[in-house]
Amino acid sequence: MGLYNDKVMNEFMHPKNVGEIENPDGIGTYGSPVCGDMMQITIKVDENDIITDAKFKTFGCGSAIASSSVATNMMIGKSVEEALAITNNQIVKELGGLPAIKIHCSVLADHAIKSAIYDYAQKHGKTYKGLEGYDPNAEEEDHHDIPEEV
Ligand code: FES
Repeated sequence: MGLYNDKVMNEFMHPKNVGEIENPDGIGTYGSPVCGDMMQITIKVDENDIITDAKFKTFGCGSAIASSSVATNMMIGKSVEEALAITNNQIVKELGGLPAIKIHCSVLADHAIKSAIYDYAQKHGKTYKGLEGYDPNAEEEDHHDIPEEV
């Protein structure tokens, strides 16, 4: 009896894009204030602003590993602006769902993506609409962790 569906289990057992890109164009880390787990994402971006590679290292739970596996896969081949539009809901959807108490693990991946792109933008003097108002040090970002139900 599993808490997790087959897709999540499979991504956890066989994660893609594990590791760290050498001389990345952007590197971002994010620590979840919910559980303390950490994720690092490194990216390569070509001259047309397309993400050609993304890798992750996660010091975190199985859901975080599964989330970062699909998140990095979703980024590769996308433009930076398109990658910025990836939400944790899309990551959860891609995984075919996560248990409610594990939703924050997908948020970790979402934040790590934005953190890596933020670093890329900083280093290359670029601005993106999707980064407007993004503050890598903003703790209150994490109110998103709990889906708001009204
Ligand atoms: Fe912390 Fe999943 S329990 S990222």
